[in-house]
Amino acid sequence: MKRKFFFRAIGIGLIFTSFSAVAEAPFGGEKDIAYAEKLWKQLEKHNLIGENRTMSAPYEGVHPHGAFLDTIERSFKVEGNTGPVIVKRNYGGEELSKEKVWDSPDEYLQAVTVMYQREGYDPDNNNWFYAKYKPDGSIDTNPKDMKLAGRVGKNMKAGCIACHANAPGEDFVFAHDRYQ
Ligand code: HEC
Repeated sequence: MKRKFFFRAIGIGLIFTSFSAVAEAPFGGEKDIAYAEKLWKQLEKHNLIGENRTMSAPYEGVHPHGAFLDTIERSFKVEGNTGPVIVKRNYGGEELSKEKVWDSPDEYLQAVTVMYQREGYDPDNNNWFYAKYKPDGSIDTNPKDMKLAGRVGKNMKAGCIACHANAPGEDFVFAHDRYQ
């Protein structure tokens, strides 16, 4: 009897474990959203977004990022973790030029895509936390209505990680290999 009960308990345990595994997608969950909101506040505090943001020279971008981009890097703390942050502002609009972006960045800003390195967060992916925000700071979604925050595109064919895995130097960063 006891033995039977024991196996039944394991069976139920397994069912529950697989349920929670399904519930925990690699991105867009409550924890990821809360973290992305904290990250946005830090970006604001360090003048990387918002009215007084520091801008770098805009350059012509490649798909899926904007027609023009400006990318800036810093290092700061979020919830006790200090790590590098790479902020890319994505601009779009008709007959856009570098000059237009410099002159009125707010008019053409379409999205802010961010990578923030969190120790131990996702060793398979060099520990990057990815987020895509709309200009007002709300988190953007993919066509399946999943919020783009966390390990976006992990083990998938599309999404931030799926594409950034092709970056040279195996650090998931295209621009350089500074954060190996
Ligand atoms: C289909 C490929 C692709 C997808 C999907 C993609 N990126 Fe990128 N990303 C690139 C390329 C290529 C660059 C370098 C080009 C540039 O900076 O002009 C880049 C650059 C970046 C950079 C600057 C650091 C670097 O790697 O040079 C950040 C930050 C970034 N992407 C964030 C994101 C986020 C967040 C997502 C998902 C919401 C995302 N990317 C999805 C291709 C992609």
